[in-house]
Amino acid sequence: MRLFRKAGNTLHILSFPGEEVEKGEYLLIRDRKADKAMIAQVIDIEFANVPGVMEELLRSSDAGDSLSGEDEDPLGITSHILYIQDARLLICKIHGTIMNGELRQENSWLPSRMNSTICKLPTESLVEMADMDGGLPIRLGETQDSFPLAVDALQLDGKLNIITGKKGTGKSHLSKLLVLSLIDYGAVVVILDINGEYTNLGYGKDGSKNRYHGKIRILTPGRSFKVTLYQTELYVIMRTLTYALGLPGTSAREFRQIWRFLEKRGRLTLHGLGEAIQNWKCNQHVKDALYSRYSALLNSGFFTDNMAEATDFEGLLRKAERGGGGAIVIDLSGTSPSDRRMGVRPGEASGRPLAVEDKGRLPLR
Ligand SMILES: Nc1ncnc2c1ncn2[C@@H]1O[C@H](COP(=O)(O)OP(=O)(O)OP(=O)(O)O)[C@@H](O)[C@H]1O
Ligand SMILES: [Mg+2]
Repeated sequence: MRLFRKAGNTLHILSFPGEEVEKGEYLLIRDRKADKAMIAQVIDIEFANVPGVMEELLRSSDAGDSLSGEDEDPLGITSHILYIQDARLLICKIHGTIMNGELRQENSWLPSRMNSTICKLPTESLVEMADMDGGLPIRLGETQDSFPLAVDALQLDGKLNIITGKKGTGKSHLSKLLVLSLIDYGAVVVILDINGEYTNLGYGKDGSKNRYHGKIRILTPGRSFKVTLYQTELYVIMRTLTYALGLPGTSAREFRQIWRFLEKRGRLTLHGLGEAIQNWKCNQHVKDALYSRYSALLNSGFFTDNMAEATDFEGLLRKAERGGGGAIVIDLSGTSPSDRRMGVRPGEASGRPLAVEDKGRLPLR
């Protein structure tokens, strides 16, 4: 393999017949003089576009009438041309650099074409260098080179981890695997389930209850998940009104005063809020703006004045923690997009931030 081109964080590498490289594999481009090495992953494979090869292919095709006579190749170049015809261009994404035995997130240097050697990098060495297998391994499966791949649950904790990939490539499958493995380690996981695809985590393929069944709680906003205004912090409501329901700044300031007024008097209920907006002394436009958002809150069904039907989200989290791990799935599949934006806010009432798809919280060790 030879280094051909570098553009941004993409490398183009020429690979010759006999050098079998597959998409997804990692390569190590070691520059002896610079004493460092670049790690790149093959993301696509094309035929090398060598000038003249196309012409040669066309000439050698059987489509035309064959000419009589003998083939002359006094310089013996036919074998070279055939060799080049099968040369491939590996499109690779640079993932980092190894310097002094350390892996760094660096891709700005240019390895030498002359002094570099390129070889495949086995997943085992890569994992060792990346220091991925830590204290709480989550086994994901096997790599192409039959290496059992695991990620460390502790390395996922407290970070924003994003799983990306083309449609149908197993993103949800991986998320579910992570959720169940995190539960095994005693973590509490909150899932904002936009498509309702995590609601059957507690069941096996045949529909029977699995060993996670008792540890998974499904909450449907407006039905099995409602909160009182008392449970909801003012800043959560303010964010809902401003970002999800587009309440302008002046009206938002007025709303804050109404909320504080009701709080002081112990009348922070849906009923009390509606009444206060109606009777509040303020500009009619502001009043209308507030009332329309109040109606949206009311119609969403997320809020209730009945303590008995309100969900103690904080209590559910504590229960899952005490029970040695569990998941709370907030099923947003039947919720309208605007209510959905609002729906994730009550989950925030406890003051805990929630990620868009899931968020694991490992017990402190
Ligand atoms: N590692 C795996 N082993 C076995 N089956 C898998 C694996 N990963 C995914 N699948 C199966 O492949 C199919 C597609 O996977 P999945 O739904 O997880 O993909 P996705 O990336 O979430 O798709 P979408 O982009 O449509 O959300 C599913 O039937 C899933 O069960
Ligand atoms: Mg999916």
